[in-house]
Amino acid sequence: MPDLAIVNASQLVTVAGPPRPRIGAEMSELGIVTNGAVLVRQGRIAAAGTRAEIDALLTDDVEIVDAGGRIVLPGFVDAHTHPVFAGNRAGEFEQRASGATYKEIAAAGGGIRSTVRQTREASADTLLSAARRYREWFLRGGTTTVEAKSGYGLSLDAEVKILEVIRRLDSEGPVGYVPTFLGAHEIPDEYRGRIEDYIDLVVREMLPRVAAAKLARYCDIFVEPFVFPAEKARVVLRAAQSLGFGLRIHADQFTPDEGALLAAEFHAATADHLEATTEAGLQALRNAGVQPVLLPASVYNLGSAHYPMARRMIDLGLAVVLATDFNPGSSPTTSMALVLSLACTHLKMTPAEAIVAATFNAACSLGLERDIGSLEPGKSAELVIHDCADYRELPYFFGRETAAQVLIGTRLARFRG
Ligand code: NIG
Ligand code: FE
Repeated sequence: MPDLAIVNASQLVTVAGPPRPRIGAEMSELGIVTNGAVLVRQGRIAAAGTRAEIDALLTDDVEIVDAGGRIVLPGFVDAHTHPVFAGNRAGEFEQRASGATYKEIAAAGGGIRSTVRQTREASADTLLSAARRYREWFLRGGTTTVEAKSGYGLSLDAEVKILEVIRRLDSEGPVGYVPTFLGAHEIPDEYRGRIEDYIDLVVREMLPRVAAAKLARYCDIFVEPFVFPAEKARVVLRAAQSLGFGLRIHADQFTPDEGALLAAEFHAATADHLEATTEAGLQALRNAGVQPVLLPASVYNLGSAHYPMARRMIDLGLAVVLATDFNPGSSPTTSMALVLSLACTHLKMTPAEAIVAATFNAACSLGLERDIGSLEPGKSAELVIHDCADYRELPYFFGRETAAQVLIGTRLARFRG
């Protein structure tokens, strides 16, 4: 593909700024250029500015893409997903609609463990073709980089199988996948009542194998008193840290503060969920510089009204991230546009704060802030023309797909004009 220039953007939303997590009032700064344009050379952003500034740099070999008076944004960075699994849980969705709760279904052997049973049975090819279908959904939603967790294998071979599928997805492109090992997602059927033995398996066999094969950059664990309580989780987190994994933690989805305090203790990159976290947990996260990853689509889909305290987090100076939590149980959506809508309606974040949380702050949480998350010279070209004239329309007109064209490096996908 030749070099290209995207011109005629009503708003070029650059999210330009310092290369570190944005906090407080910085989360409202979108770096908008009205009537903006971007020049992309060899898959990287060569310049971003006004139409006049970019016109002055154009040479004959540059292909022009007309944004048609629509907005251009950095691609969404979805910093928390579980995108490799077999089957789905539409049946449990129906049970929940009839009154059963997520926890009751899990306690009865459904939930995560039911997806684990199906995922163990599935071949790598079956998992890959399902995941490719979801990748297309991410792309159509304007997501260009995805953090991808294992966690539906829960045996050495099945976890490795999932991580190899994630590696394959990343190498195929165009969407980038950042792999996270989540062997401690649940206690599998054959280890019920033997949590120590399962932790031994994770620590002695899975983590070293995943590290040796460089199959994951991060390690995650589901911290809850009824899954992995703090004192057990510590063993996994210590082992992961000593092998060089970054840490992300499913924290306080249902029970206050244990997960947040643990994330702070280990200086994890992120603490994710935090629906039950109280002021004490938030203070600990702030003092330890841990980024909160908020997942309002899972709250919505579980039919709960218990959203995390995003406003308080922003006031405290926490560098909030928004993500889908795409998974077959609590959050079967790949839509960052829906997440932005929920962030505005239920977390009381402004559209600008939500966009920073879904792009640049998300990139920071993955250590990718120098390469993606904003439209600045030198960065990888990951940008999206959305079918709106003003960025506030993204969360405002909710429940629709807005990505018209998505550029990732040298690959341009056109979904509408
Ligand atoms: O982030 N809470 C644990 N893990 C997922 C749900 C996974 C599932 O239900 O399959 C979450 O919500
Ligand atoms: Fe999750």
